[in-house]
Amino acid sequence: MTNFDERAKDWDSDPKKIERARAVAAAIRAALPLQPSMTALEYGCGTGLLSFALQTDFASITLADTSEGMLDVLTAKIADSAVPNMLPYRLDLSVDPLPASRFDVAYSLMTLHHIPDTDQILRQFFALLAPGGWLCVADLDAEDGSFHTDGTTDVHLGFARPALQKQVEAAGFRDVIFSTAYTIQKIGKAFPVFLLTAKRP
Ligand SMILES: C[S@@+](CC[C@H](N)C(=O)[O-])C[C@H]1O[C@@H](n2cnc3c(N)ncnc32)[C@H](O)[C@@H]1O
Repeated sequence: MTNFDERAKDWDSDPKKIERARAVAAAIRAALPLQPSMTALEYGCGTGLLSFALQTDFASITLADTSEGMLDVLTAKIADSAVPNMLPYRLDLSVDPLPASRFDVAYSLMTLHHIPDTDQILRQFFALLAPGGWLCVADLDAEDGSFHTDGTTDVHLGFARPALQKQVEAAGFRDVIFSTAYTIQKIGKAFPVFLLTAKRP
């Protein structure tokens, strides 16, 4: 069982996580020319907070995660709310074969810093997008290591925007734009959360 399996049942009891997801959803809506016919992939969806906030913006949303605990909570939430367009999917893009589907938008929130090989996952996102599709990554700006207070160590300490832009462009994306979508207040400090958007040519 991973740390996220253990935390899944209580994940939605933190109002700040819900607020964060809603703020990032609003930032995605403001940044992209969304159309109701579009399909989306959320990678590292957890309990689906961000995708529930975007549920009416897409024709269908595939919600991928590696944590069975998160996916169990998500599956129950989808059943309870009877939404017709959200599909939970167990997927680890660092080892699993690429799914056959291609998406108009791929987005993630607070997941990139948990994935060791950033270049590899960016290439996988590129491959999963249809031509003209959009990547949206919301994650921590570079931090000093104080963000994870639960002993988690095997993470990136946020991302420096210029360096991440170069990595995103090296994966093939164009039109990289950053904004600040939210700020997490924790342990008396402010941790800004950027939203990166980029286009697959
Ligand atoms: C900090 S949580 C964020 C969850 C959700 N996006 C949110 O903001 O509420 C990170 C999520 O990424 C998932 N995750 C970690 N490594 C992953 C990987 N290699 N592939 C897919 N998901 C991963 C975890 O299981 C967890 O659900």
